[in-house]
Amino acid sequence: MKFPPFELERIQSLYENSVEVNLTESGVEPLSLKELMNAEELEELINIPIGYGYTQGSPLLRQRISNLYKEYDEKNVLVTSGSSEAIFLSACLTVSQGDRVVMMTPNYLSFNGIAEALGAKVDYVPLVKKEKWGWELDLLSQVVTDKTKVISICNPNNPTGSILSEEEMKEIIEIADKVGAYILSDEIYIGAELSNLGTISFQHIYEKTIITSGLSKSYSHPGLRIGWIAADESVVTKAWEIKDYTTVASSHLSQHIASKVLEPETITRLRKRTKDLLNRNLVTFTKWVLPYSNHLSFIKPEAGGFVFVEYDMDINSTDLIHDLRTNEGVFIVPGDSFGMDKFVRIGLGSKEEEFTKGLVLLSKGLSRIFPDIFT
Ligand SMILES: Cc1ncc(COP(=O)(O)O)c(C=O)c1O
Repeated sequence: MKFPPFELERIQSLYENSVEVNLTESGVEPLSLKELMNAEELEELINIPIGYGYTQGSPLLRQRISNLYKEYDEKNVLVTSGSSEAIFLSACLTVSQGDRVVMMTPNYLSFNGIAEALGAKVDYVPLVKKEKWGWELDLLSQVVTDKTKVISICNPNNPTGSILSEEEMKEIIEIADKVGAYILSDEIYIGAELSNLGTISFQHIYEKTIITSGLSKSYSHPGLRIGWIAADESVVTKAWEIKDYTTVASSHLSQHIASKVLEPETITRLRKRTKDLLNRNLVTFTKWVLPYSNHLSFIKPEAGGFVFVEYDMDINSTDLIHDLRTNEGVFIVPGDSFGMDKFVRIGLGSKEEEFTKGLVLLSKGLSRIFPDIFT
């Protein structure tokens, strides 16, 4: 198997821990155990023997995850090591040599790389920036054929922050259903909506859906490395058999903490925290960008921890972000990591002081590189 480089993960891994202000994060400022748990719960945690636990995920955790979906119970859930593993397992069980798969772009470019390594041909269908980011459904219906095994979607989308409408979802399902394709729906940003408008899970409306999600984004706990597959029981069973070869089990301690994260009261608390923080930083960002709006433009995200900003200056996005990183110490994601030069992704999920400091450094860098445009 030959994997193409995963540029987004690589560039973040190389620099995110050594910069002054990291605005590449796509989730929300993580919590400490002390902020999550009370003294009694912490005491309980330190007394847990560090065994393997349930390799498919503890019954309590799977039950709490299944509560997020209308018709699922714990048999419909496999706990994974991050949603990255969930994507990996889902690809392994749905894609074979010679298949075709469709990938929504821009996107977290993981599934496509794995599908390529498995010998499939990937058809990319773009979201297009108009008044709102909209998926090219005419193109989707043209590229989907009997050979198409999977349509891979990220909803809410990273990096655009857009949410599919119910009408768009129905059209996508019609196209998938005609050829019996799976919809692989990365729903890790459900719960990070900026308004009261929620996101509909594909699980609620299409039987051949495989959901991948986890606690890294809307629920602010990336370090737990807890993700999941939620799907038909037969899919979960097959994915579990492949997990025997990847990580065997997800961390027993993390699963215990994750069960706490997914207690109903904690879910409510974390979702509110996520929404408040993202909205506050979005207001700050909107004010910051206003004087630059002849050169920087963005569509207000509906969900997710970022803004995807288009620029018109004559510079490649990777060159731009490395210049800003090395000279000002502020780190943002180049559009190149999503196959879209002339864009950058700026994370909204940092603490407000950190976010504001990052914007000040961005201003400083932009006026140094483009003194005629940014004063
Ligand atoms: C859309 C999307 N899906 C999946 C992942 C993987 O997350 P994790 O493995 O931490 O659950 C990410 C991480 O950035 C993401 O943005």
